[in-house]
Amino acid sequence: MVESAQYLVYLLSAALFVWGLRRLGSPATARSGNALAALAMLLAVVVTLLDRGIVSWTGIAGGLLAGAIIGALLARTVKMTAMPELVGVFNGLGGGASALVASAEFFRTFQFTWEIEMIGESALLVAARAMGGGPGLGAPGAASVALGVLVGTVTLSGSFIAFGKLKGFLPGRPVVWPLQKTLNLILFLSAVGISAVLAAGAGGVIDLGAPTVLLAALAGIALLLGIFLVLPIGGADMPVVISLLNSYSGLAASAAGFVVGNPLLIIAGALVGASGLILTQLMCRAMNRSLANVAFGAFGGTGVQAGADTGDRPVRRTTPEEAALLLAYAQSVIIVPGYGLAVAQAQHEVRKLMDLLQARDVQVRFAIHPVAGRMPGHMNVLLAEADIPYDLLVDMDDANPEFPRTDVVVVVGANDVVNPVARDPGSPIAGMPILDVDRARSVVVIKRSLSPGFAGIDNPLFYNENTFMLFMDAKEAVSSLAREVKEA
Ligand code: TAP
Repeated sequence: MVESAQYLVYLLSAALFVWGLRRLGSPATARSGNALAALAMLLAVVVTLLDRGIVSWTGIAGGLLAGAIIGALLARTVKMTAMPELVGVFNGLGGGASALVASAEFFRTFQFTWEIEMIGESALLVAARAMGGGPGLGAPGAASVALGVLVGTVTLSGSFIAFGKLKGFLPGRPVVWPLQKTLNLILFLSAVGISAVLAAGAGGVIDLGAPTVLLAALAGIALLLGIFLVLPIGGADMPVVISLLNSYSGLAASAAGFVVGNPLLIIAGALVGASGLILTQLMCRAMNRSLANVAFGAFGGTGVQAGADTGDRPVRRTTPEEAALLLAYAQSVIIVPGYGLAVAQAQHEVRKLMDLLQARDVQVRFAIHPVAGRMPGHMNVLLAEADIPYDLLVDMDDANPEFPRTDVVVVVGANDVVNPVARDPGSPIAGMPILDVDRARSVVVIKRSLSPGFAGIDNPLFYNENTFMLFMDAKEAVSSLAREVKEA
């Protein structure tokens, strides 16, 4: 009876997860989607706490308290610009937790089987029934353990390498060494081999001998594999890496769900895995790259300024007064936000500028590149925070034909996503789709210097005839522009 009620609540949670995910598809409904998913998680946690298999309430209470304190501290202190690193760490910890759950179940079952061997077969069945399970994991259970440990540990170490690259502790450029792919292949095949031995041992086909050593070896190989897979991936491909690791953390959770026999963990893990994969595909499409190319291509900037022959060419500097005149007398303006807007937290000033221009009958729109900023949807979130109407946001594919018909484009702290060098087949970012802002009549670029963006590549846009550089902090620049437009 209790069990059927538990399964019913699990079903309800799963439905709420799916509904929540559906609502996350649009910024207008995303908040309620998040709330629905949080409610689903609360239900799942509470119902799981009623499970008969729970061993220690004190351990769980301690974990909840520690987790709540750390979570609250992070939520209050981590800056919006540091979100990708935080998401990277969360993915890694999720993968690590799944690997630990799978390992714990493995040891519990083996220990249990061993004790029973000492005291006899009939006691095994009595004890197994009392614990609500069978006498051993069996081959499928051990295969799930191996999958959980392998994917979970790869996610853990890979995510921490991605964190280091995003934070600047590790070089953002691709780190490559001889025979890298061969080594990764050998590590992967060894992991598959150990997993097969574990499954055969648990299925009674062979004698396992030292299961602890085998599982530790599998975890060690997975740890190295995660490091070696992410190190060669360059800075510009980080969006793809983070989404892929997110998907892996879901797969690891799903495998852990199979191991402990929890249907909701299987479903929730599968949802994370599938949505992470869809996001990975969207990110690949945004960069015009295949997943294989990201994983094995060692692309993403060298950390030195390269790819554009800018020499000592002069740039046209402008002032807020001059740029405001261009804007005030334009008919159409497109604002292109980038990572610098997030750093400067200039979204509210941008909103003010938009209001003032609209009051002068200037058509204002926002062109959004899918990988602008440092996380998927970063710009959408920032602009929504300033209540900028969603229908003024234009996707890259729709914005590009509009640029040649646009009087002024204002680039606010964006760099890589507007770098025309991507059209040059010989450039390090060749083929990456960009916003074609250089085709507009005039371009005002707001940033503090000529330094390159995340990919470490110079930007020839800054030296064009129709580009005006406004070297200022984005918040200060946009607020000065708004002041000047008001007075124009
Ligand atoms: P970036 O290419 O990183 O350029 C941002 C520019 O903002 C910098 O050149 C910087 O120039 C300027 N900036 C920084 N602080 C500023 C401030 N306070 N005021 C004014 N300007 C400021 O940004 P982007 O064009 O948005 O491109 C995103 C890049 O990040 C892509 O390469 C993408 O692949 C990568 N990436 C994206 C994601 C996701 S999922 N979106 C995740 C990881 C990496 P100054 O220093 O001269 O001011």
